Amino acid sequence: MTVISTQKDLAQLCTLVVERDMEERDRQSALFERIHGRREPPKWRISQAAQLIGVAASTLRYNERQGVIAEPKHFSSTGERVYTLEEINTIRCALQREPFRPTGSRAVTISFSQQKGGVGKSTHALHFAQYATRRGYRVLLVDLEPQATVTSAFIGFPEFSLSDNDDAYQALAVDPSLLRSRIRPTHWNGLDLVPATPELNYIDWELAQPEQSNNPELGSPVYRLRRALAALNTQHDIIVLDTPPSMGMLAGNALSAADIVIAPLVPHRFDLASSAIFFRQLGQLALAGATQLQRLAVLINRVDPGRDVETHIGLIERIYGGLILPARMGTTAELEKASADHFPSIYDIIQPRGSRETYKRAIAMMDAVNAQILNYAVEFWDQQACQQLSASTPDKQANKMWGEV
Ligand SMILES: Nc1ncnc2c1ncn2[C@@H]1O[C@H](COP(=O)(O)OP(=O)(O)OP(=O)(O)O)[C@@H](O)[C@H]1O
Ligand SMILES: [Mg+2]
Repeated sequence: MTVISTQKDLAQLCTLVVERDMEERDRQSALFERIHGRREPPKWRISQAAQLIGVAASTLRYNERQGVIAEPKHFSSTGERVYTLEEINTIRCALQREPFRPTGSRAVTISFSQQKGGVGKSTHALHFAQYATRRGYRVLLVDLEPQATVTSAFIGFPEFSLSDNDDAYQALAVDPSLLRSRIRPTHWNGLDLVPATPELNYIDWELAQPEQSNNPELGSPVYRLRRALAALNTQHDIIVLDTPPSMGMLAGNALSAADIVIAPLVPHRFDLASSAIFFRQLGQLALAGATQLQRLAVLINRVDPGRDVETHIGLIERIYGGLILPARMGTTAELEKASADHFPSIYDIIQPRGSRETYKRAIAMMDAVNAQILNYAVEFWDQQACQQLSASTPDKQANKMWGEV
């Protein structure tokens, strides 16, 4: 047992532990990356690819025969031809089936936020980001949760593969323009990631320092992410934020940067109580003029059939009324098993973990939820386009509609 006689001893001991940890990480990282870290891009059969593109499978075959689009290069284990997202995106482009976003509208930022832990923030942030990518949108997923749940869907064992400087910390504490250099592509074509590392745990402490709160150049600590995202001037259509279960600086920054907040809520007593606290704090942020939210929605997650749950849902409906997202997410064994397998997304699964029926039900529920969230994004862009149109003069409007004569 090590005896600590002086504070210097303690400091030395801590340094030693950190050094040993770094050595161990270096040693393990290559091994873990090789065994678990490889992420395969998802692939779809022709009927699924056609559905994603919005055409009939026969249209794909016809265009392949005509040489308008290339045949897919990959085959499933049963010998069937399968399409990668990259191939699907190329076909979308060739057949002019790219998803629509009005000209002049900016990227929409959607934060998955809630004060309570374990309610599904990371699960839904990840699945929504993948769903929107699959629909052809360019998505940036910013992981602000130091546990790095979402990051681990793309980087197996991030604790071994990432270093402190890979996350959003420096962009929040030092220079907003650094966020760009933290963006990395993922195995999902069109989906980029700013990963999280445990270093983010220190951001509350860092941003509470007087030199941070009184920093005229960087501005208020709670707007740092909003500034960093604005400085990105990004090509992405959708920015998805995953946040930690607290109302600290990371969650606060996400709320002030978001255009849309999705607040997952599990229909149980304790979750209801902490959600009320979350709404109180969000209200305070709004009163202080610190948000730019245009839509707030409660996503009821982990709905089990049963009378107790129905009673709680009745309560949620009375409290949150029109804020509730019409589609609910049921509890599903597929998601429960997913995190244990280090593949937290059911959109990444090739083989269902349980029965095919359970898997299909899980996908159908998740798709329904995500389709509604994507509708909110489309509404946001439409609103922006309308605002732009009404801001221009009548002459300019006419020119826009009829073209210059
Ligand atoms: N609908 C669901 N059915 C089954 N399991 C679910 C469902 N939603 C989430 N889970 C599981 O619950 C656990 C917690 O979910 P998740 O990590 O998304 O919550 P969180 O709100 O991000 O938690 P934290 O606040 O700790 O970051 C995970 O193991 C996840 O797989
Ligand atoms: Mg989480």
